[in-house]
Amino acid sequence: MNRRTLAGVTTCATVVALLPGAAATAATTPLYRDARQPVEKRVTDLLGRMSLADKIGQMTQAERGAVAADPSLITRWRLGSVLSGGGSVPTPNTPEAWVAMVNEFQRAALATPLGIPMIYGIDAVHGHGNVYGATVFPHNVGLGATRDPRLVGQVYRATAEEVRATGIPWDFAPCVCVSRDERWGRSYESFGEDPDLVVRMRTAVTGLQRGGVLPTLKHYAGDGDTEYGTGSGDYTIDQGITVTSRRDFDRIDLAPYRGVPGLYAVMPSFSSVDWTEDGVGNPTKMHGNRELITGTLKGRLGFQGFVISDWEGIHQLPDTSTDPRPTAAQVRDGVNAGTDMFMEPNTAARFEELLTAEVQAGRVPMSRIDDAVRRILRTKFQIGLFEHPYATTAAIDQVGSAAHRALARQAVAESQVLLKNSHHLLPLKKNAKLYVAGRNADDIGNQAGGWTIDWQGRSGDAIPGTTILAGIKQVAPHARVTYSKDASAPVGKDDIGVVVVGETPYAEGFGDVGGPVCSWCTEPQHEPKSLTLQPGDRAVVDKVCAAAAACVVLIVSGRPQVITDQLAEMDALVASWLPGSEGAGVADVLFGREPFTGRLPVTWPRSTDQVPINIGDKTYKPLYLYGYGLHTRH
Ligand code: GLC
Repeated sequence: MNRRTLAGVTTCATVVALLPGAAATAATTPLYRDARQPVEKRVTDLLGRMSLADKIGQMTQAERGAVAADPSLITRWRLGSVLSGGGSVPTPNTPEAWVAMVNEFQRAALATPLGIPMIYGIDAVHGHGNVYGATVFPHNVGLGATRDPRLVGQVYRATAEEVRATGIPWDFAPCVCVSRDERWGRSYESFGEDPDLVVRMRTAVTGLQRGGVLPTLKHYAGDGDTEYGTGSGDYTIDQGITVTSRRDFDRIDLAPYRGVPGLYAVMPSFSSVDWTEDGVGNPTKMHGNRELITGTLKGRLGFQGFVISDWEGIHQLPDTSTDPRPTAAQVRDGVNAGTDMFMEPNTAARFEELLTAEVQAGRVPMSRIDDAVRRILRTKFQIGLFEHPYATTAAIDQVGSAAHRALARQAVAESQVLLKNSHHLLPLKKNAKLYVAGRNADDIGNQAGGWTIDWQGRSGDAIPGTTILAGIKQVAPHARVTYSKDASAPVGKDDIGVVVVGETPYAEGFGDVGGPVCSWCTEPQHEPKSLTLQPGDRAVVDKVCAAAAACVVLIVSGRPQVITDQLAEMDALVASWLPGSEGAGVADVLFGREPFTGRLPVTWPRSTDQVPINIGDKTYKPLYLYGYGLHTRH
């Protein structure tokens, strides 16, 4: 597949139009199919040919599971888009099967009267995590720790190359959430607590664009700034209420949405906003927030792309009726607020019927429908989807390529934050006598975290790559390593302990501290989430650090863990975040193959009752400051 960028999409249609006999073709080819025409003219021409069913179809996105058994539904519903939710994969889960699946769906879309191509979307939030064998990069919190925007752009460009190689032109990433409370189950999807850092890391957007994939800035806005205890349903903070002033909202939550370069989509947040200056108690769901979607995003910020709802996002809009979701009122309110395409995984037909009725009743103006469809079509023309609707398997060797894995390993090394290093224990000698312990030392699923193969991720041997233990053995083959996951093996007095603890995978509200436990997840994921280490981890730290000559503790987690009461027994402490498939990058800094350069992207609390705690707070006495990180020489 030829390498295309969103900025410089080339099209073959131009060549066709210059070929002999093109004159006759030109006369019968509708203007919107002529790639030589300006995009806006093509949009206007196509819009003028579309029925209401065509238009509403473009505004509707279904999940692959709803159409995989009968792709003709895509034709019948005239769908503008299909998505893979987290973990929704073809069988077999191979790059070839992804290409075949997307092309099959595309054939169904092109069988509609006007042959408008559908756009396939997926969450590739730390590499193409749904695809077995893809390179899995550190989650955004680790990328924020690198303070290396150029590297982050390269990571997302590599991600785009792997996404594109499987036939997919649209990524629901990056999350430009500003994470203000680490009890939020999605805080690892954020580059950090400082909006300036998040803005600097928007090289992720240009990286995706250069890799030929449409980015999606999400979740607009204030998703990471909600109040603990206001979460939706069983969630304690996810999808909650951002209680703030317009001034602070603008400074913190809207900052990542200003001055964004190139083509992109925007996804509203499930959360709500409640203005303090208006007297709190009147929260508005972002999915129904006309002031912020139409007034601010499309108006004041001049966003020209399209807004895609989150998963059944309008189903949460206020409606006292007992009708099945989505209700007519939710459809009406969601469309009129300014969202353009609706992620209706399993209710696409219902959505279309309800919206048709709302338009015909005059409760949704045709001007709003035309605005939505214009935005969607403009994007599809601009990314070359009309000229290149189908994918090939020409680039599938990009998926999990050695070059991408080397880049991921570099990103892992740069993401490691050295918080304590008594007596310069680190870097370790390559012939050291080591006692490696802890549940996250040899568990690639835990080091990858959520959004990996499964929506919630999975512990264990989930993906190909190197665990931290395997990395240690690779980087220091002459080290004498004893591995005992639970520290049940005897610890030598001359051993240096390397204790790797932390969290098991989670995603969204299932990662909320005090939130619901994922009932379908297997052990040990099936544990209440916390800002402190699980009892088993604490015991391993105590045992090894008490018996070994010295010990370094590595915390593999999506967020800080309060370890203050065990800090004294640790000679060295490293925040490893969620490194992904290339655990060798951790060994690179442990043994000095690479220097420690990482810096905290979020404040590291001294105690749980300090949370939320962020740089700039009036009272600010954390264990480690935002931006803290010890460096070692190469
Ligand atoms: C999820 C997430 C969103 C994701 C979407 C599709 O609920 O909130 O980040 O892009 O659904 O998987």
